[in-house]
Amino acid sequence: MTSSSPSPVHKIEEYSPNLWLTPKVDLRFDLDPHLTVVRADYDVQLNGNSPGPLFLHGENLEFLSLRLNGAIVDPSEFEIQELGILIYHPPSSKFQLTIENRICPSKNSSLEGLYQSGSMLCTQNEPEGFRKIVYAIDRPDNMMQFVVTISGDPSLFPVMLSNGNLVYEKILSDGKKEVKWEDPFPKPSYLFALVAGELVETIDSFQTKSGRNVTLKIFVEKGNEKKVSFAFESLKKAMKWDEDTFGLEYDLDLFMIVAVEDFNMGAMENKGLNLFNAKLVLADKKSATDETFESILAVIGHEYFHNWTGNRVTLRNWFNLTLKEGLTVFRDQWFTEDMTDPAVKRIKDILFLKEHQFPEDQGPMSHPIVPKSYTEMNNFYTVTVYEKGAEVIRLVSEILGRETFKKGLMDYLTRYDGQGVTFEEFISSMEAAFGKPIPNIRNWYHRSGTPKLQVKETYDPKSNEWEFSIKDSSQKDLPLIFVNSYACFDSNGTLLAEGKRIQEGHEDQIRMRAIDPSGNKPIVSFFRGLSSPILLETKLAKEEIRVLAENEPDGVSRFFNFQNLIFLWMEESIRSGKSEDLTRLLETLGSGFKKDWDKTYFSFYLTFPSLNQISEQLQCFDFLKMETLRKEAIRNIATKFTKEFQILYEENRKTIPIQTKEEIGKRRLKNTALYYLLHDPSHRFEGLAVAQQREAKHMSEEISALRYLIEIGSKEKENGISLFYDRWKEDALVLDVWFAAQVGTGENRFEELEILETHPKFFIKNPNKVRSLYFSFARNPLSFHSKSGKGYQIIAERIKQLNVINPQIAAGLAKLFSSASKQNGDLPRIAKRELEDIQNLPNLSKDLGEVVGKIINSF
Ligand code: TRP
Ligand code: ZN
Repeated sequence: MTSSSPSPVHKIEEYSPNLWLTPKVDLRFDLDPHLTVVRADYDVQLNGNSPGPLFLHGENLEFLSLRLNGAIVDPSEFEIQELGILIYHPPSSKFQLTIENRICPSKNSSLEGLYQSGSMLCTQNEPEGFRKIVYAIDRPDNMMQFVVTISGDPSLFPVMLSNGNLVYEKILSDGKKEVKWEDPFPKPSYLFALVAGELVETIDSFQTKSGRNVTLKIFVEKGNEKKVSFAFESLKKAMKWDEDTFGLEYDLDLFMIVAVEDFNMGAMENKGLNLFNAKLVLADKKSATDETFESILAVIGHEYFHNWTGNRVTLRNWFNLTLKEGLTVFRDQWFTEDMTDPAVKRIKDILFLKEHQFPEDQGPMSHPIVPKSYTEMNNFYTVTVYEKGAEVIRLVSEILGRETFKKGLMDYLTRYDGQGVTFEEFISSMEAAFGKPIPNIRNWYHRSGTPKLQVKETYDPKSNEWEFSIKDSSQKDLPLIFVNSYACFDSNGTLLAEGKRIQEGHEDQIRMRAIDPSGNKPIVSFFRGLSSPILLETKLAKEEIRVLAENEPDGVSRFFNFQNLIFLWMEESIRSGKSEDLTRLLETLGSGFKKDWDKTYFSFYLTFPSLNQISEQLQCFDFLKMETLRKEAIRNIATKFTKEFQILYEENRKTIPIQTKEEIGKRRLKNTALYYLLHDPSHRFEGLAVAQQREAKHMSEEISALRYLIEIGSKEKENGISLFYDRWKEDALVLDVWFAAQVGTGENRFEELEILETHPKFFIKNPNKVRSLYFSFARNPLSFHSKSGKGYQIIAERIKQLNVINPQIAAGLAKLFSSASKQNGDLPRIAKRELEDIQNLPNLSKDLGEVVGKIINSF
């Protein structure tokens, strides 16, 4: 973390196996929040046959002692460096190394390594946190068998956990408590975990398909034990699903989850001991929204699925992060599709990809799903590695078919069990199951940017056929493979044909007969359900898109065609400078009221795209103009369908606070109706929102009502904000949404931000609070990209503070400057100046330095 020595860049072509490995480690912790002593006994072994110096990673450690084969080593035999320890002449090709150091968990605000959160001590080691705990060969291709002994004051640490199985628990003669854990499965250091503190244990169990009983435990801080039942249900569903779908059975007798308040990301798949951001475990109907419940299901599934895809088969190096993340996201998406509604889940995933991954891939942080280089690995836990990575796996599953895909996955897990591998091994297993090569699939791993495909159409009068040519013109080299699910319709919306084509390489031609005797062109819907993660340019006329938006039998495709209709209207209105005719759009929207759609689906269909979605789609950055038009359209919709929305609201008003598809759908639909009603120019529906907030039985009802009152600037806004606070001031997770709601919409929310960050319940060291306040503000374009540049100044200041507290979070916040160079007027200049200011910080962290450097280069 010094600016004196520039941080090294890791390049994929420079990867080579390590000279030494440590197949076994015996770890000892003597816990104390201020001064923890850690000792590691390694079995060291030469990897290959030419010996050389041994380097162990180590950062911010206070070195105590080093022994080789039991004997203290003379200081002239090794060197303590800033990033580790170098032992010049290891004694032989196999030996014992014992090393001891001290750390201070209570001063560790980076939340990497061993740190304090509330009354507990816990670890986060992925990707390179282990080296902040003890000297180690801290790379994923060094697999170790762990034995862990923990001792400490039993009044501070009644619970002491690590991976695997508990061997014993006892009180020592000096009154300290000691526990010993053993994990039978070898694993890299990044999967090691330790938790100790005053935790409440909740317990459940699961019987595997072979009849074994697995004990399930969730540990929480006191007071939260009533909020774990949904997490347990989710875990059991995930365990069952992995058995039913892939035949994968859990491999230990104990599975533990710990809910942690201070956590840099969502959750972590440490073997047998998953650590979770508290907001992704704790939920009850009063305090959690339907979105929270669904995230809990997905993330519990995700971490559990890592037990096979990530842990049993792990990574050779960090360049291949997508091997476990893309694959595991794909698995959790599939799981949620099966547990909820496939079309709705797919719509959510595509919306997320388009709003977050597409811009990343078009911007200064763009990288292939297997990055070519990194300075700080933490910066590469990106939507590209995760979500685009999952799209590439989905592509493979579409090419093979899901049954063959399952065989390929089983082949992969059997063949590479206990090893660290790369995406090549994964693809080769898939090809083995397929029985032939998958052409060009590897290029998806090496090519950055969203491929842009164009559709061109020509008519051949002789054969009465239309030919569609689909061309990937975005890059000459690295040809790809695409799955193109398509359907074609006549001008009345009658389905004429549908199918799935595999496009190998830059171009594909599809010929279709025009059934219509007049030779009318068929209307073709390509890449239905985003069957490949691409941007498609078509020349479809507005009328044709409308036919698709009303008639596509595929709900996902129908939804996105309707969105396209809205985007077209936006584009025309921006160009002409006034609200263009909405008649057709209103008709299409109105047709939905007559359909018998799933309620959640219908609520998505009705929801007008957000400013960020519109801006990303049209590449327009005049947010004020877009917002004016957007609100104009929303008011028009509200006025035209007042009656329908009132009926919808009444029909769905009474809900039962349970997590069933029907009740979730009702809540969503009634909220959508309420949103439109609140935009009725008469303001006569505001009372509905006020009442909904007061009488809510479920957080989805309560927070939506408040959010809308804030967004429309209702005179009831302040009352709503105080009422909400009074009800929830003791619940940190609910306060997160309260903070977020006050800065997440609306123009120039500077004052709100500055007041809220001095609020006694705001803590800059807590990432959930930083996300709810600073990230929400920075994702609100009307505030962040304010013409004055004030939004940039505010966020830049906070990034500077976070640089010292938590570099990973600081870098994450800095990434939101990625779109600054595209803004209008003075904004790019102001942003650049702010970023250069950050770059000149005397103690600029490696995380922040890498991100800011890349963004500055894009100006
Ligand atoms: N591997 C985690 C996952 O399931 C993500 C992760 C990486 C993480 N680094 C972390 C989680 C740091 C918490 C803190 O996707
Ligand atoms: Zn993951």
